[in-house]
Amino acid sequence: MKLCMIGTGYVGLVSGVCFSDLGNDVICVDKDLNKINNLKKGIIPIYEPGLEELVLKNYKNKRLNFSTNLKDSVRKSDIIFICVGTPTKRNSNSADLSQVYAVGNEISKSINKFKIIINKSTVPVTTGDELEKIISKKVKKKYFSVVSNPEFLREGEAIRDFIYPDRIVIGSNDSKSQKILKNLYSPLISKGAKFISTQRRAAELIKYASNAFLATKISFINEIANLCEKTNIDVEDISIGIGLDKRIGSRFLRAGPSYGGSCFPKDTKAIVSTAEKFKTNLSIIKSVIRSNKKRSDLLSKRVNSILKNKIKNKIISFLGVTFKANTDDMRESSSLKLIPFLSKKGAKIKYYDPTGPKKEFKKLKNVQFSNSIKDSIKGSDIVIAHTEWNDFKSINFKRFSKNKKLIIYDMRNIYSPEKIKKLGFKYFGIGR
Ligand code: UGA
Repeated sequence: MKLCMIGTGYVGLVSGVCFSDLGNDVICVDKDLNKINNLKKGIIPIYEPGLEELVLKNYKNKRLNFSTNLKDSVRKSDIIFICVGTPTKRNSNSADLSQVYAVGNEISKSINKFKIIINKSTVPVTTGDELEKIISKKVKKKYFSVVSNPEFLREGEAIRDFIYPDRIVIGSNDSKSQKILKNLYSPLISKGAKFISTQRRAAELIKYASNAFLATKISFINEIANLCEKTNIDVEDISIGIGLDKRIGSRFLRAGPSYGGSCFPKDTKAIVSTAEKFKTNLSIIKSVIRSNKKRSDLLSKRVNSILKNKIKNKIISFLGVTFKANTDDMRESSSLKLIPFLSKKGAKIKYYDPTGPKKEFKKLKNVQFSNSIKDSIKGSDIVIAHTEWNDFKSINFKRFSKNKKLIIYDMRNIYSPEKIKKLGFKYFGIGR
């Protein structure tokens, strides 16, 4: 099939590349000429394991192309995916849909035959209705169909999530499009992905409700972890103990710092805001947002108490600063709160991240990037394992540090407390 992805951000690029790898002809469109030229040279704008190889392979065999020409790309395609950003509006909690609508307007000028226009961007309920209205100003309804097909890709695992999704959700009020899209996704369906066809509005809500539910699960286990710390219980046992109940499920029950990234913080706020528009109070999600906000303060205070209120001049080593492993994304990472807090209190911070130094910390006093795990740990008073990269899981702390009083604060529970204690170091984890 001939596809066109509008927006080569995270969703558009990964989905476009994966669709081309499944044998479709795909054009990835972006208005950023520099990005498009780079992609043609195999320079990938984001860090995502496995993506570069797939781009190179499919660009070389000509199933994948890149363009800044939206009009021409739409004309050449049967299915058009809108994959532009829906950030939080300034001074508001609702999603800014201006890019989605602007693209809808552009598409409407280029429709030369029947097109399926798919919204893959995360959007509030009724956005599809609005998009349909915008396009129908220029095009008769029989020439297009607006569909919602949300994505459930995680950064760092996006390619695997695309190829082996739990489910594919198609929200469309028209059966012809449902059929075509089932065919498009058939290689994944035959590998076991469940195909769900539903109303367009329902698909839009499935996306927000999924993210809000996952954020709720994380905040829930984080609060249980707080209780575990007071009662001398290991939260890891609780996660296993409750997760084995199939009604609960074991995934997304890892306690840690506040959840971050470009999705959960933004989407939880947006669903609350949408609900308010429809005079519905999503009190559970509201309290999840509050709980997550408080979490960084709580962990800052915990570092303070671990260091017995003597942060000044302490050398603190951060292992990993991104919001999670296998990504270079800093958006809403808890390190953006923890590191400035500690630096303000007079600590000297050395951080190492496998994806390199971060501009966010450039201007902070006493915050320095270390070139290796060893350099970061050497000479420090406390090591904070902030992100769960595999690189950090088997560190030989004894070899890297001569400090007999070294403290390990394991914010992802990746180490065995017993092993660390056996080495003679002090260990603190989350909820244990
Ligand atoms: C999330 C969803 O998981 C995807 O399904 C969705 O497609 C995506 O948002 C999106 O809407 O685009 P992502 O933000 O890439 O994906 O990352 P996650 O793996 O979900 O992690 C989000 C945050 O939750 C991270 O800060 C992570 O450390 C935290 N987390 C996750 C926990 O603290 N504990 C867990 O058990 C799982």
